[in-house]
Amino acid sequence: MTRKIIIDTDPGIDDAVAIAIALYAKELDVQLITTVAGNVGLENVTTNALKLLKFLNKKVPVAKGAKKPLLKTAMSVESVHGKTGMEGYDFPEPDTSLLMNINAVEAMHQVIQSNKEITLVCIGPLTNIALLINSYPDDLKKVKEIVIMGGAIGRGNSGVYSEYNFHFDPESAKIVMDFPVSKVICPLEIGKEALIYPEISEKIKNLNPTGDMFYSLFKRYRGGSFSTGLKMYDSTAIAYLLAPEIYQLSSEYVAIETKGEFTQGASLIDINKKMGKEENATVAIDVNADEFRKWFVSAVEKCKVG
Ligand code: RIB
Ligand code: CA
Repeated sequence: MTRKIIIDTDPGIDDAVAIAIALYAKELDVQLITTVAGNVGLENVTTNALKLLKFLNKKVPVAKGAKKPLLKTAMSVESVHGKTGMEGYDFPEPDTSLLMNINAVEAMHQVIQSNKEITLVCIGPLTNIALLINSYPDDLKKVKEIVIMGGAIGRGNSGVYSEYNFHFDPESAKIVMDFPVSKVICPLEIGKEALIYPEISEKIKNLNPTGDMFYSLFKRYRGGSFSTGLKMYDSTAIAYLLAPEIYQLSSEYVAIETKGEFTQGASLIDINKKMGKEENATVAIDVNADEFRKWFVSAVEKCKVG
């Protein structure tokens, strides 16, 4: 039985890898891709999603979402992903025929309503999901779980204590974290632990044209470094869906800081049970890094563009 999913994303080099792996995994049925401003602006992340689908020869509808966070001013991380957000490889023109004429929230609502059960896979800021909750709260009763790449148990990669997706839109992260729906979080520590070493990148390059494309992107990607290990943050969320056994999972209470002068977007993952609150998320608190790397290579091997 395949699992039906919606991928909410801000491609983003690591997003591109995660999306490709999901599209070629026989266990997953990607019903919709929704884009959100994050790594770079909404127009670029949407164009990147459409270019990727053209390269992968996959026909999945794409709907544009939020172009800015709920309250904050938008940031960008061109230094990590390049000016366009997906630099390093000369992609074909975007497949604009896949772009829906409705926005991400309406598109998610339609897909949720027309399916018995769906999983939301969130690998960018949570603005679209917060807007979905605000517009169609009952839709979340049909959501099996929300799998999120975001947050940090310790220090952040964007603020001192905030991970980029949550730092970009803390209010949305709080709305999602506080909403009664099953959530799984793959925090920064997982990507930091499950590094993709140069020898793995070299192996991937020779697997197939998708692996060769990834290799070119990896040379430009600055989430970690090509020579000491790349942090494939967003693929850690896909790995939860396809190989959960590689994770140590723990039920935890997670709060999102939205008021702090210096800590906006910080995720307080209460592993020492200091806050006395009931758990609201399942958190991947550790990973078998070697098993992740084995899974990653086998997943890329399946990305055979037909
Ligand atoms: O902090 C890592 C996250 O921020 C990843 O989703 C990456 O693509 C960026 O969006
Ligand atoms: Ca992302």
